[in-house]
Amino acid sequence: MRIFIDTANLKEIKEAADMGLLDGVTTNPSLVAKEGHKNFRDMLEKICAIVDGDISAEVVSTDCEGILKEGRELAKIHKNIVIKVPLIKEGLKAVKAFSDEGIKTNVTLCFSPSQALLAAKAGAYLVSPFVGRLDDISLNGMDLISQIRQIYDNYGYTTQILVASIRHPMHFVDSCMIGADVCTMPFKVIEQLAKHPLTDIGLDKFLADWKKLNS
Ligand code: G3P
Repeated sequence: MRIFIDTANLKEIKEAADMGLLDGVTTNPSLVAKEGHKNFRDMLEKICAIVDGDISAEVVSTDCEGILKEGRELAKIHKNIVIKVPLIKEGLKAVKAFSDEGIKTNVTLCFSPSQALLAAKAGAYLVSPFVGRLDDISLNGMDLISQIRQIYDNYGYTTQILVASIRHPMHFVDSCMIGADVCTMPFKVIEQLAKHPLTDIGLDKFLADWKKLNS
């Protein structure tokens, strides 16, 4: 299981990287806007300097030509840049062209198994199904991950399943059980993965006993 952080906050990226668990970073236009990064290129360069792994940079064009123009420029920034493309018809055309050119893609905003199949056929390197947003509308996001895993295995597609829109640790654990390839999470969820109340209680007790011995 590869772990990515889903943020454009450089401090959080640095802290997660220092924990020794980070394999990549995903951003999206909303996350970049939240952090107020006016210079997208500069932000990506800084992220690439912190993390040696896949760094997803999302395009904002919605026509194939525009997506290709943006993506080719972004891909020049660093060898680790993966072009994040929306799962729409024009996006799939661009994914096919990027794949032929050797540019890696992360096909985002995936909400159905048929969309995921098309992304794989187009040659996507990663596909990003959004589990939390499906849960938000009373569907089961994790069911989608199981379906995509089964379909990719049935036909031998090598596109990696990147579980996105993760909201809590059980999304991560379920993704591991299903055999997804990557999970991208906000920093808060990464912190939650490391936490256990019995660890804290146990540590407090060890330290209190040690103090008694030495007093
Ligand atoms: O980066 C895409 C995805 O992870 C967004 O998550 O929480 O806005 O649905 P969320």
